[in-house]
Amino acid sequence: MAVVLDMVNFGRGTTKLPHSVLLEMQKELLDHKGIGTSVPEMSYRSSDFAKIINNAETLVWELLAVRDNYEVIFVQGGGSSQFCAVPLKLIGLKVAECGAWSAKAAEAAKKFGTINIVHSKFGNYTKIPDPSTWNLNSDASSVYYCTNEMVHDVEFDFTPDVKGAVLVCDMPSHFLSKPVDVSKFGVIFAGAQKNVGSAGVTVVIVSDDQLGFALRECPSVLEYKVQAGNSSLYNTPPCFSIYIWGAVAMEKLSSIKSKMIYEIIDNSQGFYACPVEPQNRSKMNIPFCIGNVKGDDALEKRFLDKALELSMWSMKGHRSVGGIQASLYNAVKIEHVWQLATFMKNFWRLL
Ligand SMILES: Cc1ncc(COP(=O)(O)O)c(C=O)c1O
Repeated sequence: MAVVLDMVNFGRGTTKLPHSVLLEMQKELLDHKGIGTSVPEMSYRSSDFAKIINNAETLVWELLAVRDNYEVIFVQGGGSSQFCAVPLKLIGLKVAECGAWSAKAAEAAKKFGTINIVHSKFGNYTKIPDPSTWNLNSDASSVYYCTNEMVHDVEFDFTPDVKGAVLVCDMPSHFLSKPVDVSKFGVIFAGAQKNVGSAGVTVVIVSDDQLGFALRECPSVLEYKVQAGNSSLYNTPPCFSIYIWGAVAMEKLSSIKSKMIYEIIDNSQGFYACPVEPQNRSKMNIPFCIGNVKGDDALEKRFLDKALELSMWSMKGHRSVGGIQASLYNAVKIEHVWQLATFMKNFWRLL
């Protein structure tokens, strides 16, 4: 019997998009949320597009726990334009050249100021030179590196200590795939097409400290202060790419949130039990019983009472199935899920 498999895109250039996102795009293509027009036709100054871009931005803030002293902007021009935006902003750049992309960034930056390479080329880019051998100790204002060199496939598993210089990071293939301590960086940029959407939009996270200065030659479209000051609407933004970006990030967010709770259930040695098979579990509504697979009424009541004391409510399962049900809809933030996860762990361990 012939087995037909779905085509899976393992390409390095552009990411596979989640099937659910493609279906949503298809459903909404002609008429976005019943407003009578499609996203590519929408005015980028309209309140409808404002909702789309605000949602995309909020998701970056949530997923990466970005603090108030940072700006999140969406720009055109890809990672390559940031190779120019960064040196136009931060003169005296140093580059950790560990692969083709950081080599390109260094080449682009040379046009605008003094560039030092922190280490001479290391073999055929098969390894990251030991940071203790990097030439960091002069007066460079900033250090640029790429977390994952997509051509040579060298990945940083640490954040370099750059001795007080501003750290700039090109992060496309990592972006939103793992937690990042944003506070260590002056600038992070990532083209969406690698991990979180389709080509056309680049997300830049820039600390407020880095907004001020830019070289006189810096075109306004590349100036972070201008883009941040205009909420990414200084020039026409890539509306459809931002819309896709938001949908993919939302999908990621719900996977992360539901995983936090399912992991506790599955690691609780039967204390919490989810009746649904792992491959069919909802990311939005998580049902579970407490005490055993059928649920212990007294324990479940205690769980709900304790949860209420901690301001977590409405988790009683539907009357037809009983047990507990936690719904993780979009407005339920990661920190709320974290609060529930911590409570579940404590309830189980301290019983
Ligand atoms: C690490 C890295 N930086 C920058 C770029 C350039 O991105 P763009 O083609 O969007 O300018 C790429 C593209 O693959 C990349 O992998």
